[in-house]
Amino acid sequence: MLTQFTNGLLHGADYNPEQWLHDPQVLQQDIELMKKAGCNIMSVGIFSWAMLEPEEGKYNWEWLDGVIHSLYENGISVFLATPSGARPVWMAQKYPEVLRVSSDRHRNLYGARHNHCYTSPIYREKIKLLNEGLAARYASHPAVKLWHISNEFGGECHCDLCQEAFRQWLKKKYGTLDKLNAEWWTTFWSHTYSDWSQIESPAPHGENATHGMNLDWRRFVSDQTLDFMEHEIAVVKSINPDLPATTNFMYYYNGLNYFKFKDAIDIVSWDNYPTWHKKSDFDIAVDVAMNHDIMRSIKRQPFLLMESSPSMTNWQSVSKLKKPGMHILSSLQAVAHGSNSVQYFQWRKSRGSSEKFHGSVVSHDGSSDTRVFKEVAELGSIMEKLSDVAATNCHAEAAIVYDWENKWAIEDSQGPRNKDMGYIEEVQSHYRALLKQGITTDFVDMECDIDGYKIVIAPMLYMLRSGFERKLRAFVEQGGTLVLTYWSGIVNENDLVFQGEAPHQLTDVMGVVSEEIDGLYDHEHNAGQVVQHIAGLECASLAGTYSCSKLCDLLHLKGAEALMLYNDDFYAGRPALTRHVYGKGTSYYVSSHFEEVFYDDFYHDLAASIDLYKPVASVLPEGVYTTVRSNEKTEYLFVHNFTDKLAVMPPFGSEWQAVTSKEQLNTTWNLKAYDVLVAVRNLD
Ligand code: GLA
Ligand code: GLA
Repeated sequence: MLTQFTNGLLHGADYNPEQWLHDPQVLQQDIELMKKAGCNIMSVGIFSWAMLEPEEGKYNWEWLDGVIHSLYENGISVFLATPSGARPVWMAQKYPEVLRVSSDRHRNLYGARHNHCYTSPIYREKIKLLNEGLAARYASHPAVKLWHISNEFGGECHCDLCQEAFRQWLKKKYGTLDKLNAEWWTTFWSHTYSDWSQIESPAPHGENATHGMNLDWRRFVSDQTLDFMEHEIAVVKSINPDLPATTNFMYYYNGLNYFKFKDAIDIVSWDNYPTWHKKSDFDIAVDVAMNHDIMRSIKRQPFLLMESSPSMTNWQSVSKLKKPGMHILSSLQAVAHGSNSVQYFQWRKSRGSSEKFHGSVVSHDGSSDTRVFKEVAELGSIMEKLSDVAATNCHAEAAIVYDWENKWAIEDSQGPRNKDMGYIEEVQSHYRALLKQGITTDFVDMECDIDGYKIVIAPMLYMLRSGFERKLRAFVEQGGTLVLTYWSGIVNENDLVFQGEAPHQLTDVMGVVSEEIDGLYDHEHNAGQVVQHIAGLECASLAGTYSCSKLCDLLHLKGAEALMLYNDDFYAGRPALTRHVYGKGTSYYVSSHFEEVFYDDFYHDLAASIDLYKPVASVLPEGVYTTVRSNEKTEYLFVHNFTDKLAVMPPFGSEWQAVTSKEQLNTTWNLKAYDVLVAVRNLD
């Protein structure tokens, strides 16, 4: 069921009018320009705390009343932020406990933003009072559509309050110190704890090599941040429970397990700032697409693109402009992967301070006669045309396991490579092959349901959180296709290595046992050679030899058949790719990290053999890919050209009608450099 949060697509920006209150003409001009740009939403109040509470307990709402009123009068809706992402100076001066303490145990001075202690009772109380005021005044205002809770939650605090909260969290998890000592394997190096008060968070000059503790600290930070956010949401929803809430996530942010946030927010949103044109734009597009798909998968619902830049950023090493076309292409890429909005940071460029040169819709010239403004306005009119897309979603038959806790554990594990274990790279290799074929992919973590997918791909499933092996087993038994790779089924959720054969509790499902794993130096390669005459893989693209690197698993067969064998080194002739029939399903084990063409060929054959849905059967030019969104009645097809060259496109089925151009798609057609075409077909 699609939870429809928006009527039509939303187009807008972070709007920071508090920077311009001294100049009412600017505010007036903003409204005119917003309408001209086809904007219907503004996120307001994100960094307004000092303006809303200039002195402790003295609130000033009038300016915000005026801003919200004038947006509303002009048909522009509001995402109203809680301002906890940055605090006023007076608060830090009077209550130093709100200031964060770093892992080396230094307390920050006042400054910057996103640096408060999430545990501090005073910070929680101050934001509660402020949020109560905001909610009392605006939670039922017809302009306000959504709570934008704080801004880009992240980071950690090691103050005494957090230490105590960490200990409480551990007590709740383990119950007894004996259990904690056992799960953290503290007899190693004589680290046994005899009193809870001895436990201190990881520190560069203290404990940092107890992997179970490192993992629990990350979980605690994630949970404590979630708890802080829930504290904010409870306050604003106590006034109007029907007003939904989001918080804006970040690109592959490592510090928080975003899947844990899924029940606390009503809709997912995130901020997207790719370094377009730094390398192959298609490579960047794949990377961004994957993050969009992760965001959509968290609630398995459409999400919001809360921020992006209409031109450049000013915090990357080089502030590159988006080339003509890229703005519309990259914005509709978000929509294609499930976003129901395109929003910017920020509407109008600041005159001073940190982000005065960050791209914005309105620049310092205040003009609408600019390349950037015109592209934004053009996108606004395209989005208007595509408004029915908001009532669709992306439907996946394939799921890839992407699990934050597993990633944390892999990166902290010490061995089999201490640099560049390549978890995201491996995940992306599988994802990229599906994306290139136009196959929609969801991401799941180990707490998610996997029923209903045709294929589940679990790259580097190093950590097997309790119960996930049962889900995988049942999935294959009932007819699913499972792809597992090297370095899987090694440790439990506390990073304790399983005793017995690996992949733990899955050797019968996979039909293989992993005995050893070889770490390869960066200059080393091996290769997998396809065994002749593989039956059952349709189309048989998989052929010849594929180079591999990084890690090579040394397997014994225990019922599986080898589809590929290693070519080199002392393990030449041992299995590099296997297949095993288990129950009604089939499992594949990929023993190493292969070159791109392996994944292309393997998933081409696999997709054909299990009949994964692709909207377009033809092979598309390099750098072009398709995505679909649909409901029961209509299917939208997005065709993206992430190259600087015109793409000559093969004919598509005659059922497809172009929406964003007049192209006839049932014959050869052209897609310009950095262009996107949206087509529609009826499913009735
Ligand atoms: C040193 C130490 C050992 C162990 C090994 C690992 O030799 O004395 O305790 O850490 O390194 O290589
Ligand atoms: C983040 C923040 C914004 C702004 C932009 C700049 O997304 O949320 O406040 O700093 O980055 O790219």
